[in-house]
Amino acid sequence: MTSVAIVTGASSGIGAATARRLAAEGFHVLAAARRAERLTDLVAEITAAGGQATAVTCDITSDESVARLAEAAAQAPGPVTLLVNNAGGARGLDPVESGSVADWQWMYDVNVLGTLRVTQALLPALEASGSGTIVVVSSTAGLTVYEGGGGYTAAKHAQTAIAGTLRLELCGRPLRVIEIDPGMVKTDEFGLVRFEGDAERAAAVYAGVPGPLVAEDVADCIAWCATRPEHVNVDRLVVRPRAQAAQHKVHRVS
Ligand SMILES: NC(=O)c1ccc[n+]([C@@H]2O[C@H](COP(=O)([O-])OP(=O)(O)OC[C@H]3O[C@@H](n4cnc5c(N)ncnc54)[C@H](OP(=O)(O)O)[C@@H]3O)[C@@H](O)[C@H]2O)c1
Repeated sequence: MTSVAIVTGASSGIGAATARRLAAEGFHVLAAARRAERLTDLVAEITAAGGQATAVTCDITSDESVARLAEAAAQAPGPVTLLVNNAGGARGLDPVESGSVADWQWMYDVNVLGTLRVTQALLPALEASGSGTIVVVSSTAGLTVYEGGGGYTAAKHAQTAIAGTLRLELCGRPLRVIEIDPGMVKTDEFGLVRFEGDAERAAAVYAGVPGPLVAEDVADCIAWCATRPEHVNVDRLVVRPRAQAAQHKVHRVS
């Protein structure tokens, strides 16, 4: 029977690339996000390439919406063996001193409580499959802090804490928890969301960086971790572009 993988935030960037990649690996992918039209296009693309996928419109900040995602998972054509908690993002790059409480709230709601809500809703199905994998797409921002990143790093640290805690709590059950921590990934929308649609500011983040990661690189890491034999738990995979040795150490050419 085809295994089912759920990917949140599948309407763009890392989530869309992960949905494509997991479908190519043979999963039936439930592609979840708020923008239905994008999901429909993605599912059409995956299907045309010979894969299987279903679009599920879902807002991970809503209990009702996530309950509907769990219902869709229950009706999916196979055991639910993989959940990729990818939906998330950053808003703002302001110092703590002047950061927007609303931005911080949004980042906590989506990255942290979204991951919590979706994981809680899907855990029974993942366990019932006999071998479930939970992936948490956090960030190197979940491991270190940087100036202007207070709200995002706080949220990603909390998301990282969920992954670590969950792994301890689930030990002894047929479930594994994998944390993926990407550094700089050049995706179309991450910077636009962070800078309220300011394309110039978003582009400046990657300016002169030879070879930032792209969404497919992270999808490759997720797929590799998730397709290891079931007894192998890659606790944490930190992946950065070669040009980024640390959060503060980025090589740029002019
Ligand atoms: N790009 C980077 O440099 C980078 C580095 C490290 C970690 N990450 C992490 O990787 C993940 C994906 O980032 P990305 O670069 O691919 O960004 P992105 O293209 O902006 O993708 C974010 C995804 O999250 C979804 N989303 C946002 N709010 C949602 C909600 N309330 N309910 C459901 N889905 C929601 C969006 O879809 P809808 O708007 O359609 O709902 C979108 O598909 C994020 O968790 C991000 O923090 C990114």
